[in-house]
Amino acid sequence: MASASASSPSLYSLLLISLLILASHFHASEAQARPPIVKGLSWTFYQSNCPNLETIVRNHLRNVFKVDIGQAPGLLGCDGSVLLNGTASNPGEKETRPNQTLRPEALKTIEVLRALIQQQCGRVVSCADITALAARDAVFLTGGPDFPVPLGRRDSLTFNVTETSNLPSPFSNTTVVLRQMGAKKFDATDVVALSGGHTFGRAHCGTFFRRVSPVQDPTIDQTLANNLRAICPNASSPNTADLDLRTPNLFDNKYYVDLLNRQGLFTSDQDLFTDPRTKPIVQSFALNQTLFFEKFANAMIKMSQLSVLTGNQGEIRSKCSVTNSKSLITSTVVEEVGEIAQF
Ligand SMILES: *[C@@H]1O[C@H](CO)[C@@H](O)[C@H](O)[C@H]1NC(C)=O
Ligand SMILES: *[C@@H]1O[C@H](CO)[C@@H](O)[C@H](O)[C@H]1NC(C)=O
Ligand SMILES: *[C@@H]1O[C@H](CO)[C@@H](O)[C@H](O)[C@H]1NC(C)=O
Ligand SMILES: *[C@@H]1O[C@H](CO)[C@@H](O)[C@H](O)[C@H]1NC(C)=O
Ligand SMILES: *[C@@H]1O[C@H](CO)[C@@H](O)[C@H](O)[C@H]1NC(C)=O
Ligand SMILES: *[C@@H]1O[C@H](CO)[C@@H](O)[C@H](O)[C@H]1NC(C)=O
Repeated sequence: MASASASSPSLYSLLLISLLILASHFHASEAQARPPIVKGLSWTFYQSNCPNLETIVRNHLRNVFKVDIGQAPGLLGCDGSVLLNGTASNPGEKETRPNQTLRPEALKTIEVLRALIQQQCGRVVSCADITALAARDAVFLTGGPDFPVPLGRRDSLTFNVTETSNLPSPFSNTTVVLRQMGAKKFDATDVVALSGGHTFGRAHCGTFFRRVSPVQDPTIDQTLANNLRAICPNASSPNTADLDLRTPNLFDNKYYVDLLNRQGLFTSDQDLFTDPRTKPIVQSFALNQTLFFEKFANAMIKMSQLSVLTGNQGEIRSKCSVTNSKSLITSTVVEEVGEIAQF
């Protein structure tokens, strides 16, 4: 990878890509000041051994979303970027998760992507990188910003949920959320921007029921409270409500407009508009979608680099749902794609 002769062409390509990105996607002011990338990751990691990687992911997901737009929030959630505890495998706390069917479907989609990529490039791209790209495209293909994803992650040898299990819960207030996210070096702007991931997706009654019964949260809009009570006979009802009641399937800034109107679904959402530290940020995002998109992209780039493995650490999984040591049967790539074509 890192031979001396490769360095000048790759610098040239990087410049060329930057110019193309500047010309086609971003205003000049938006392309500045991306967060730093951690050692071992790079913007062009698969340039030589899987140059079509990003095209494969985007084209496949475009087709997936045509059939089921509901997969977009699931794929964003897989990246750990939705501010919810329990999006990691956490079967004991099912009721605190968004629509439980989202995650298995999203994992299936990641597995299909992995097979498509492996068919073209061999086993060189990690599941962690595929997941990060899928999260970005879930945002972009539903109306959100396009942004670069640093690549070169390796897959872990275990399923360690310690990192994601420290994410704030939907019941937390802003003080708790800022403290938990602050420990991971996210500031108030990052926290408010990442919460904007609730611009789509649905959540189960257990995540918001306590805001409407037995005692109604004073910060919730009366009509919304009535509607939520109608949807949910009790906290364990399997019914769901939209996280963003204005545009539930679009990645836009209407989530912040919801908050201004006391129509946030979770305590962790609505309290962002109550707390004086985050209220002005909510207002600025509600007024300026471009600003939200810019801050969201930067927070996602930071988020996607939390405790990553690089270099010789970990492995490149041959199936995303199991570690290589656990996969006893080594099926061929052709067989795997055949299996996938059946569902
Ligand atoms: C959960 O999401 C899936 C996929 O979008 C959808 O088909 C299903 O109806 C949802 N379930 C509920 C209870 O809303
Ligand atoms: C999981 O990750 C945490 C924090 O990165 C680490 O302290 C812990 O040892 C890991 N556990 C396993 C089983 O790898
Ligand atoms: C998040 O989930 C973990 C694992 O189930 C749990 O120990 C922790 O208390 C939860 N944190 C919050 C804030 O709910
Ligand atoms: C936020 O929640 C914590 C933990 O439940 C609580 O101790 C604290 O008083 C709350 N802060 C505010 C401002 O409501
Ligand atoms: C919740 O409501 C459903 C539907 O009315 C009912 O079947 C169920 O028994 C209730 N569960 C609890 C714990 O009250
Ligand atoms: C919205 O935010 C963008 C990005 O920061 C900024 O360039 C633009 O001037 C803002 N627009 C308004 C109307 O304030």
